[in-house]
Amino acid sequence: MEKRYEGKAKILYATDDPDVLLTVFKDDATAFNAQKRGQIQGKGEINCTITAALFAWLGSLGIPTHYLDQPAPTQLRVKSVQIIPLEVVVRNIAAGSLCKQTGLAEGTVLPFPLVEFYLKDDALGDPLLTPDRLRLLNLATPSQVEELRRLALRINEHLSAFFQRCEITLVDFKLEFGLDSHQQILLADEISPDTCRLWDQQQSDPQARVLDKDRFRKDLGQVESAYQTVQQRILAQLGPAYT
Ligand code: TMP
Ligand code: ASP
Repeated sequence: MEKRYEGKAKILYATDDPDVLLTVFKDDATAFNAQKRGQIQGKGEINCTITAALFAWLGSLGIPTHYLDQPAPTQLRVKSVQIIPLEVVVRNIAAGSLCKQTGLAEGTVLPFPLVEFYLKDDALGDPLLTPDRLRLLNLATPSQVEELRRLALRINEHLSAFFQRCEITLVDFKLEFGLDSHQQILLADEISPDTCRLWDQQQSDPQARVLDKDRFRKDLGQVESAYQTVQQRILAQLGPAYT
């Protein structure tokens, strides 16, 4: 198969159908703009399975996604889209770069969900964009930016309530979107413990509760079992229709 693109955690291949791509999830993990590299055993399969389940479920709720099906444990068939080079981050609780850049204490519950746009450009370190810089770069029209924000907030409402039922707090997460051949905006990429901060409500200790890639970023250990816990709770909550 012809390789179209290789990212840090996934490889995209062309298929016989020009409208369909195959995404293969890798066990490779990176952090801090790939300054830290490693492997998380079984991550490819877990992130692929979680993404498939959540995208199928979000699709059933009317969120347009690029997801088609999961032909193998680490593979997704997806609609071919032109990725909009923006990372859309939604935050419910202060953590990570928000704490570093604002001084807010980790764990502060935000009075409203924060939507942030970052430029998807590793060479530039994915900088946070101001509204005027977003307008200047013109990577999406103002009405597309408005739609991205609306979709991100709708996805946050669905996912926050869903993770609550899994006894997990959705602290923050990153989304990517693409345009299909009809210029429709589709949710793309992945939603997984690599791209979310997830805190276990069954644990009060601030390190023990971490169920996401912060275990790898901060060398907290037990990364694989945290990812497995997330997968198990999601699949148990969604039930057989999405597994
Ligand atoms: P941040 O606090 O480091 O800005 O991250 C916010 C959220 O975005 C967090 O859930 C992790 C996710 N994220 C990615 O998925 N990819 C990235 O490259 C970065 C920096 C963050
Ligand atoms: N995904 C980014 C990287 O590989 C950053 C991160 O997730 O921390 O560098």
